[in-house]
Amino acid sequence: MSEQWALVTGASSGIGFELARCFAVDRHHLVITSDDDDGLRDAADVLADDGAASVQYTVRDLSHPDGALLLYQDVRDMGVKPDFLANNAGVGVFGNFALETDFQSEAAMIQLNIVSLVQLTKMYARDMVRQGGGRILLTSSVAAVAPTPNLAVYCGTKAFIYAFAEAIADELKEAGVSVTALMPDATETRFFERAGMEETELYQADKASAAEVAQTGYRAMMRGADHVLAPPFIANVHAALAALFPKRMVTASSRVE
Ligand SMILES: NC(=O)c1ccc[n+]([C@@H]2O[C@H](COP(=O)([O-])OP(=O)(O)OC[C@H]3O[C@@H](n4cnc5c(N)ncnc54)[C@H](OP(=O)(O)O)[C@@H]3O)[C@@H](O)[C@H]2O)c1
Repeated sequence: MSEQWALVTGASSGIGFELARCFAVDRHHLVITSDDDDGLRDAADVLADDGAASVQYTVRDLSHPDGALLLYQDVRDMGVKPDFLANNAGVGVFGNFALETDFQSEAAMIQLNIVSLVQLTKMYARDMVRQGGGRILLTSSVAAVAPTPNLAVYCGTKAFIYAFAEAIADELKEAGVSVTALMPDATETRFFERAGMEETELYQADKASAAEVAQTGYRAMMRGADHVLAPPFIANVHAALAALFPKRMVTASSRVE
């Protein structure tokens, strides 16, 4: 059994749940969180069966301005000092920016995808520096390098995470804290239903499995990579094409409808 603790946000389903399973298989202690009590309880049962040294969970809404601080306090009250932080919780808002999407949903998404992520990263990065090391994984997206019409604000949040991760990875290197941006391509999770994308071609298209994406991210975090595209082949081709062609062409061809 490991004596190390991992905190995984958005661990009730999808990529976050599969990331938590990677920690469980390696017999780490886990704190998992999301805003769904039943989903977390079910996830905790599976993680215990997978071999986690122990599993605790706490329900927090990270789209609320107090969410990140309350989560940090919950974890501290458990007596846990995470060695690993997988900052993964996130949602998308789909639709034409000027005509269809509403600002309240976009503001809640920015709070979840950016503000809470930055706040948690700041609190745990400081703790990890004091502890002498640690590893942080931030879930971005391949959309960070291929802006997607009809997911405009979402793409902006993921581009933020990518740039933020690369910058603090450099700042924290000397302190023994690694920071890795996980950049998934389209992945089979509840993301698309939550974003109201059931009528899109992308929803029907073949996607990567959440397990494959999470395992790629987990391995990259453990070796201290600054970023990783997942699944490796498809996402690397996608990103290479995005780098090769003019931005306007890449953006037009990335449109989801
Ligand atoms: N699926 C893709 O194609 C894809 C591609 C690139 C990047 N990503 C990124 O991958 C990450 C995980 O998404 P996913 O695809 O695995 O989708 P998912 O299955 O919908 O998982 C999202 C997770 O975030 C949690 N969450 C949502 N709103 C929350 C809130 N307000 N407070 C706390 N937790 C909240 C969810 O918890 P509840 O269920 O309890 O609400 C769930 O555990 C996201 O950051 C997403 O942007 C996904």
